[in-house]
Amino acid sequence: MSHNTIAINQRMDRFDSHASVWLFGYGSLIYKADFPFLERRPAHITGWSRRFWQGSHDHRGTETAPGRVVTLVPEPGAVCHGMAYLVTPEEFAHLDHREKNGYLRLATEIGFEDGSSALGLVYIATHENAAFLGPASERAIARQIAEARGPSGPNSEYLLELAKALRELGKNDPHVFEIERHLVELAEH
Ligand code: BEZ
Repeated sequence: MSHNTIAINQRMDRFDSHASVWLFGYGSLIYKADFPFLERRPAHITGWSRRFWQGSHDHRGTETAPGRVVTLVPEPGAVCHGMAYLVTPEEFAHLDHREKNGYLRLATEIGFEDGSSALGLVYIATHENAAFLGPASERAIARQIAEARGPSGPNSEYLLELAKALRELGKNDPHVFEIERHLVELAEH
């Protein structure tokens, strides 16, 4: 699949006639939403794990020195905690453009802290997209993140903000916190 996913995402139109749609955020959306929303709630989805396996050459890195950002990988029984936003369907055109580097819209069940749930959308970059980097050790990922920066800022800022936001939500993510530990260690030496 080519880098640019805008046209593919526009074909995923099942929520276009809805007045509002829940969007599940598991990366920068947890700590920053640069679009209008009707409501925001801590939430989770099941069967997916957050991983720093997606390359970023347009936000947190460059073509020659890509950064690493999160995507979700399927894992039976796993729970991924994040933040859900209730938005109007028009917001997806903006997000499709911002996340055009390999992320596809996927319909998913989103669970809330009060035990209720709703069908909504999440953006996922699968192993089939051209910017996918795949697994590496947490230390190797931290080394790459420490070196990368792009138009949206240093890759380290993205990782540190995400770790802080998860901590504020009271959620543990061993993959993210282990990369954070290595990153802090690298900065000290
Ligand atoms: C997020 O921050 O959850 C996110 C948004 C768009 C694409 C990938 C992740």
